[in-house]
Amino acid sequence: MKKMLLGTTALAVASLMALSGCSSRTGTEGGAGGAEAGFAADSLIGVALPSKTSENWVLAGQLFEDGLSEAGFEGDVQYAGASTTVKDQQDQISAMVTKGAKVIIIGAADGGQLATQVSAAKDSGAIVIAYDRLILDTEDVDYYVAYDNFKVGELQGQALLDGMKAKKPEGPYNIELFSGASTDANSAVFFNGAMSVLQPEIDSGNVVVLSGQTDIKQTATADWKAENAQSRMDSLLTSTYGGSGVELDGVLSPNDTLARAIITSVKAAGKPIPIVTGQDSEVESVKSIMAGEQYSTINKDTRNLVTEAISMVSTLQAGDTPEINDDETYDNGVKIVPAYLLDPVIVTKENAAEAYKDDPTLEPLTQQ
Ligand code: BGC
Repeated sequence: MKKMLLGTTALAVASLMALSGCSSRTGTEGGAGGAEAGFAADSLIGVALPSKTSENWVLAGQLFEDGLSEAGFEGDVQYAGASTTVKDQQDQISAMVTKGAKVIIIGAADGGQLATQVSAAKDSGAIVIAYDRLILDTEDVDYYVAYDNFKVGELQGQALLDGMKAKKPEGPYNIELFSGASTDANSAVFFNGAMSVLQPEIDSGNVVVLSGQTDIKQTATADWKAENAQSRMDSLLTSTYGGSGVELDGVLSPNDTLARAIITSVKAAGKPIPIVTGQDSEVESVKSIMAGEQYSTINKDTRNLVTEAISMVSTLQAGDTPEINDDETYDNGVKIVPAYLLDPVIVTKENAAEAYKDDPTLEPLTQQ
């Protein structure tokens, strides 16, 4: 990994890039500024994760524990509980600040409700890294490390179209749209990415959202909970797809947990399973894809994301500035947060074996 010393050169390059409007997607390096000049190699590093709403969060906790300790740090990894998630996380971050954490990595339970805590973290001299989910409406977030969320949405939208076309070459196609929790900044980004692909098809009449529910407020799934997606799908099937000959061709689902809930609902109604998208490469969804039920998922290997976050910490520990590759996309309402984005990969039954070839858990599931 390339690193750049924090100093006048880095800052000058960063301002030049900004002035010239240069795109960082092609590999810009630059600093967020504000990073302190390193800290002790065995420092406390806080990791505040949301509740375990999907498998990736479960995996991330263990990977952070192991990875931080291997890198010589003292890790303090906390999850928000299932019910009072926001309050839990706020308290956990405050406790990390009190204990003197040098970096606090946050997978936000509610990205809009952490301004007070991250401000206290900055005042104490800690560096704040938003992990996977952006932290909104605050100056006090230094870096963002995530898979490219807009691209995740684009890939989902495209997979939905491809899957429907493969099954039924001619439209129009009836679809329904689901999005994630409104408290997660990612939800709108996934949805907007998908709609950037689907909207032209909707405008041309080739794709029809038969319920008419196209506003993100209508499509949201509170707390990313499976039961909420399942009951909305139940209602849609009754309200819109009850008549004979009215087919549901596809469902945009933002992740695997919700995809399986949607499929459960459709099966319970005795309807054929439509093309359903997903995200996260959860074990049960990979099985479902191989069995020909769920159509697609996204591979956002949690191991790589955690490795990237820990590598940022090591760079900061050395007093250097972490590499970023995007300094224009992630506007949190107050500032553009310098980001390091990883590339998500679409997975269907066709490319699953290739996509998971380095994953000891998922690869065996693809051998049929
Ligand atoms: C993550 C997804 C995950 C969802 C629910 C999002 O912020 O990016 O990978 O499926 O949260 O946990």
